[in-house]
Amino acid sequence: MDVIHSVADLRARLSRVPNNVFVPTMGNLHDGHIRLVGNAKPRGACTVVSIFVNRMQFGPREDFDKYPRTFEADCAKLAAAGCDVVFAPDETEIYPEPQTYAVAPPEIADILDGAARPGHFRGVATVVLKLFNMVAPKAAIFGKKDYQQCIVLRNMVRQLALPIEIILAETVRASDGLALSSRNGYLSEAERAEAPALHRALLTAREELRDGKRDHLRIELEAMARLAARGWRPDYVAIRRQADLMPPGEADRELVVLGAARLGATRLIDNVELTL
Ligand code: PAF
Repeated sequence: MDVIHSVADLRARLSRVPNNVFVPTMGNLHDGHIRLVGNAKPRGACTVVSIFVNRMQFGPREDFDKYPRTFEADCAKLAAAGCDVVFAPDETEIYPEPQTYAVAPPEIADILDGAARPGHFRGVATVVLKLFNMVAPKAAIFGKKDYQQCIVLRNMVRQLALPIEIILAETVRASDGLALSSRNGYLSEAERAEAPALHRALLTAREELRDGKRDHLRIELEAMARLAARGWRPDYVAIRRQADLMPPGEADRELVVLGAARLGATRLIDNVELTL
């Protein structure tokens, strides 16, 4: 496995492999990330994983500084998973000058997580476009745990005609249902025990939809109230269309229930898809 820090070295290394498959990450890798690498391996001649904590997607009061950096452990996991190239640039490599040009995603970036985290998806889309230009992959894999990110990036690739296949991989969960996330590491023991309640709240909402209930607002509000009663501070529980995360109409069948809520100081997100 090659560990590369500069764009020039990356391009030189990848010029020999026309069909690389790319997994962008911010490091602090868990089994969910490693599953993405496993998905990438059979799809191309070379699996590239980037590790870069992107300041541009963090708000001023968010956890950029304390975001866990575990580079040595990450590299050991990636080597064991069969990763071929780790791209680990520093900030000056990605942002050698102030980033005055940026990807401006449409309204989808301002709802749900975008409403709670203004500018977040602008930062995500901009860095991912830059990483795509550096890695030039034939395909890239993202985990559905970050559902809104997946839709924003898939639409960006389609609208900007980037020659990259976007593959969305299923969320990896702990045995109690908690979606794996780097931010789970912030949870105290008691919070970790409580954390699967978010997933359970979304599953209950999904069951109600499957049972034929169509009062979306009531289902959403009751899910949030159940979480609040357990000590959470919910940002949203929302029933949306999978394609564009807009509120569904009568005819829509492909839905997703998304939730975001704070448990103590930690903000967790999760989602469950359903087809009616
Ligand atoms: O999902 C993440 O880890 C990040 O948002 C990404 C896609 C690596 C961009 O910084």
